[in-house]
Amino acid sequence: MSEATTYNDKVIRQFALMTAVWGLIGMLVGVLIAAQLIWPGMTLDISWLSYGRLRPLHTNAVIFAFGGSALFATSYYCVQRTCHARLFSDKLAAFTFWGWQAVIVGAVITLPMGLTMGKEYAELIWPLAILVALVWVAYAVVFFGTIVKRKVKHIYVANWFLGAFILTVAVLHIVNNLAIPTSLTHSYPIYAGTVDAMVQWWYGHNAVGFFLTAGFLGMMYYFVPKQAGRPIYSYRLSIVHFWSLIAIYMWAGPHHLQYTALPDWVQTLGMIFSIMLLAPSWGGMINGVMTLSGAWHKLRTDPILRFMIVALSFYGIATFEGPMMSIRTVNALSHYTDWTIGHVHAGALGWVAMISIGAIYSLWPRLFGLDKMYSTRLIEWHFWVSTIGTVLYIVAMWIAGVMQGLMWRTFNEDGTLTYTFAEVLQATYPYYGLRLFGGIVFTSGMFMMLYNLYKTWQMAPERNREVPVPAPAHA
Ligand code: HEM
Ligand code: HEM
Repeated sequence: MSEATTYNDKVIRQFALMTAVWGLIGMLVGVLIAAQLIWPGMTLDISWLSYGRLRPLHTNAVIFAFGGSALFATSYYCVQRTCHARLFSDKLAAFTFWGWQAVIVGAVITLPMGLTMGKEYAELIWPLAILVALVWVAYAVVFFGTIVKRKVKHIYVANWFLGAFILTVAVLHIVNNLAIPTSLTHSYPIYAGTVDAMVQWWYGHNAVGFFLTAGFLGMMYYFVPKQAGRPIYSYRLSIVHFWSLIAIYMWAGPHHLQYTALPDWVQTLGMIFSIMLLAPSWGGMINGVMTLSGAWHKLRTDPILRFMIVALSFYGIATFEGPMMSIRTVNALSHYTDWTIGHVHAGALGWVAMISIGAIYSLWPRLFGLDKMYSTRLIEWHFWVSTIGTVLYIVAMWIAGVMQGLMWRTFNEDGTLTYTFAEVLQATYPYYGLRLFGGIVFTSGMFMMLYNLYKTWQMAPERNREVPVPAPAHA
């Protein structure tokens, strides 16, 4: 079959496989740092394995390596199938794969060495940051190039979200990384003081909004209807959802800087926009969940669909909690506590990881000409360990967080603090233990996933098969 008449599935297979591999590695590092918080001396004072160096390795591995690979895989799958067109350029697509893996390997080497820009979620030193920018530009060319050569008039809503994610992440990454290099591994940001903090959290929050949310919403808009075998609940709602989400997200960043040197009015602005963000977030969640109306019974037999619907529920939880935490008086309690960590993982494990896992299970067999994975039973098990692991993790952190916040602000009659910091830490240990256990339970599912992916690949009759592009649709 000629190249022009088939989809480029090779790059999707590569990214899908690496999603599971990096997911496992990133989560194992998560488990390790969760253990370090209980037994700080466990890594024998080896600087490469110290908490301060492994923590950014965890966040980079799970967000950019695991989440990023899932986004590349699913966006390349979705854009080709909805546009009835092969990817714009095979060479550039291959560059995005190898370039992205090179960035991650660079992170795995430099972060444990302690080489960092010192900005959360933008730690990578400038040569790696430049490579990220190059890969991202190539990604944009491949994605939008495919949209341009589409044979279907309509641009499906999933592609709107994916397009917004790609464009915004490019802008965020470039602006936040503007720096003056002083050596190959060191640089100074061009911003200073409060402005630096503001730019950083404009970036940080929108990394959540566009990397961890808009991209995965694109994934949701393609894979939930596909897996449910139903059209999206409301097309009109998806358009309102899209425009309101992208219009509001940009302004909410200051909620990360409540009670800081940032001007008061900017903090208030961040809070107001965060509260407004509840509406589009829940609009999107409802649109996804309601896509199942009339097909609820499928949840009983299809664990992949269950992954997706539970992911949407956790999305609902995280996007209810976030606006609450942005209210200054609530933030006065939650900030600096493990409540934030609980919120993060409600979004990260519950939403990002579960929707990605569901989507990869959905596309993997199709990439090899099969209609289902090797073992549905194993997916069922994976579903339960993921759900139970997430619940254990976030419940432990919620209780620990609220307890810490309350203990820190308890005063004696003479105005002195009732609890020392060490006492608060002592009280937190049982919850750190529970979080560690939840993390291990969740991570065990990633082994099941890798095994299932491997066995499915082995089962495939034609492992290098290319799927033909259907004839042009006349919309
Ligand atoms: C088994 C799975 C996981 C475990 C055991 C785990 C554990 C941890 C631990 C112990 C921390 C540091 C908390 C602290 O400093 O007090 C952390 C931070 C973080 N993790 Fe995970 N994690 C897991 C999965 C994930 C996933 C899948 C994602 C993203 C998709 C993620 C995103 C993050 C982020 C963004 C932070 C930084 C939070 C902040 O600075 O407020 N984690 N994780
Ligand atoms: C309506 C949506 C959301 C709002 C308004 C929101 C709001 C907030 C607030 C107020 C904080 C605490 C800031 C602080 O005290 O330092 C926070 C932290 C965080 N949220 Fe959300 N959140 C939302 C959704 C999500 C989702 C869906 C995810 C993940 C997928 C997420 C990931 C994070 C992360 C990673 C942090 C920690 C940042 C850090 O300090 O390192 N959020 N969010």
